[in-house]
Amino acid sequence: MIDIRRLETLPDTELGPLLAQSQAEGHGMVAKLRKHWISGAQRFDGDGEALYGAYGDGNLVGVGGRAIDPYRNDRRVARVQRLYVLPAWRGQGVGRALMRRIVEEGAGRFATVTVRAPSADAGLFYEALGFAPVSRETETHVLML
Ligand SMILES: CC(C)(COP(=O)(O)OP(=O)(O)OC[C@H]1O[C@@H](n2cnc3c(N)ncnc32)[C@H](O)[C@@H]1OP(=O)(O)O)[C@@H](O)C(=O)NCCC(=O)NCCS
Repeated sequence: MIDIRRLETLPDTELGPLLAQSQAEGHGMVAKLRKHWISGAQRFDGDGEALYGAYGDGNLVGVGGRAIDPYRNDRRVARVQRLYVLPAWRGQGVGRALMRRIVEEGAGRFATVTVRAPSADAGLFYEALGFAPVSRETETHVLML
C-alpha cells in the first residue's frame, strides 16, 4: 500500500536508500534535496510549497516537492522538484500518487505547474499525467491548473 505524507522535516535516515540508489543511477535530485535542506537553501516552506514522501510497506520509497518556480517571475507558477521513486517501486503508481498530491494541493494557490524532465522516459511519465511538452531552456513540460 502506498501512503503519501507531507514531510515537514528531512527524514534523513530514511532517505539513505534513495540517496544511494539515485546516485548509482546518476541522478542528483536526492543529493540536492538533502544538501539544500541542510543548508537551508530550499526547505519547501515557502507560500504554497511542500515536500511529500511516498511510503510503501512503511518505508520511504519516493519523494517529490512543489516549489515556487525559481525560473519564472510569477508566484502563481509552481515547479515539480526532486521527484524520485526507488527503482524497485517504479511502475506501480508511486510517482502518480506523489504527483496527485503535488498538483491537487497546489491548485488554487498556483495556476501552472512546470517541470524539467531529465530524460525522455520521465517526459513520458509527465505526459501520462496530462502535462504538455514545451521547449524552453528551463522547463520541458507544463500543466495548466
Ligand atoms: C519518473 C518516475 C518518478 C516515475 O515514477 P513511477 O512510480 O514509476 O511512475 P508511475 O508508476 O506512477 O507511472 C505513472 C504513469 O507514467 C507513465 N510512465 C511512468 N514511467 C514511464 C516510463 N519509463 N516510460 C513511459 N511511461 C512511463 C505510465 O504511463 C504510467 O501510467 P500507468 O500507470 O498507466 O502505466 C520514476 O521513474 C523515477 O523516479 N525516475 C528517475 C528519476 C526521475 O526521472 N525523476 C523525475 C524528475 S523531474
